Amino acid sequence: GVRHGRATQGWADGQGLPVHLGAPRVSRVVERLGGSTVVQPGGPLVGRLRVPGDKSISHRVLMLAALADGTSTVRGLSDGGDVACTRRIVEALGAGVVDVDDDTISVRGGSLGAVDHPLDVGNSGTGIRLLAGLLAGLPFRSVLDGDASIRRRPMDRVLEPLGLMGATVAGHDGLALAPLDIRGGGLRGIEYRLPVASAQVKGCVLFAGLSADGPTTVVEDRPSRAHTEELMVAFGIRLASEADGDLTRVTLQPGRPSAFDHDVAGDPSQAAFWAVAASIVPGSEVVVGNVYAGPARSGFIDVLKRMGADISHDPATGDLMVRHAGLTGTVVTVDEVPGLVDEVPILAVAAACAEGETTFDGVGELRVKESDRLATVESELGRMGADVRVDGDTLVVRGSALRGTEVDSHHDHRIAMACAVAALVADGPMTVDGWDAVATSYPGFADDLDLLREGA
Ligand code: S3P
Repeated sequence: GVRHGRATQGWADGQGLPVHLGAPRVSRVVERLGGSTVVQPGGPLVGRLRVPGDKSISHRVLMLAALADGTSTVRGLSDGGDVACTRRIVEALGAGVVDVDDDTISVRGGSLGAVDHPLDVGNSGTGIRLLAGLLAGLPFRSVLDGDASIRRRPMDRVLEPLGLMGATVAGHDGLALAPLDIRGGGLRGIEYRLPVASAQVKGCVLFAGLSADGPTTVVEDRPSRAHTEELMVAFGIRLASEADGDLTRVTLQPGRPSAFDHDVAGDPSQAAFWAVAASIVPGSEVVVGNVYAGPARSGFIDVLKRMGADISHDPATGDLMVRHAGLTGTVVTVDEVPGLVDEVPILAVAAACAEGETTFDGVGELRVKESDRLATVESELGRMGADVRVDGDTLVVRGSALRGTEVDSHHDHRIAMACAVAALVADGPMTVDGWDAVATSYPGFADDLDLLREGA
């Protein structure tokens, strides 16, 4: 069931690059040792590949299909563990999900009902926050829970607006933490200004708004990813998004989506690992096909361009093309952060390989991701000898030589993959402990890395 990779290499795509299709081969340059993975330095990376379906879109499509009356068809869903949790949850609630083929599922939605056990979102902040909104609108009791990381992440940001809508949602022990106990139904529409730039909070309120008694408006200061809005409009929900000075106002009328057919585009946040890898490893030339192009996801491309990267994204085909180039430091401003919030760890690797200093301003939200990413970027890149400093909500990285050593994912998929990319330019093998975290979003990452190196 592998959709985004692999194996038979040919030169068949007309771009002069090997195409990776089929089943992965045994790893050569990436070696597994218990819970760790050893990545050998070197390259180049050459070839064309696909990354998993976008994770943000995959969660939303499953939830919208579960709410729709009738049967929807979805191709290219993310094969990561986070989305698998959301799939199991909508199935437990009563949606009928069937694997049609390797890349296609059908979802029969429409009549959801109570489940007598806690619903497990695994490691997924998007899963728990969006589902909290969806379930707050449905007239039964649900409990949402997840792993140790989920139980530490702030839920006040969704408890507050759901409370204003009239929902009864309680965190664990009176705290704003998972598990969340939700008694749904009877919601009123509200107007809510987001206190943090967060697509998860915006999405939570909009999902709840589908079941409210009148319109719901969400106001954002800095535009976050717009997948909830795009998909709801595409599936027949009455929703309008408009600029109001510097603000964006999204207004939604309650209703249910129509059943739909949807092809999930590739995840730009995963493509970003290959974009940085190809940029920093001499001789590399990589094309990632079918990468989503849309609002608030392309910030990393702009930053890499400013750093001198040879990168282009064709919105018509989704092809993201990247060749090796020397990088120089830049300043990432607070306004750019919502558009690249998940790409900061891998951009920090690019910065560690660049000439001079790169500053990321206003990245305090990284403290409440799958790990405290300001701390984990600082500690793990630091172990490689990189010059990384956190000063309040600012991250500063100065280019320097990296050494092969032992690093730890801290159970964070993006930290593990960022370390593996840094390993390519280190002076010796890099051992990444806690590699299993990668499976939450990109189970085929190590195989894809091997194939790109074999493509050279
Ligand atoms: C996501 C929003 C972002 C992002 C996360 C996915 C989404 O989180 O970090 O990986 O799908 O809405 P925040 O809303 O907390 O910024």
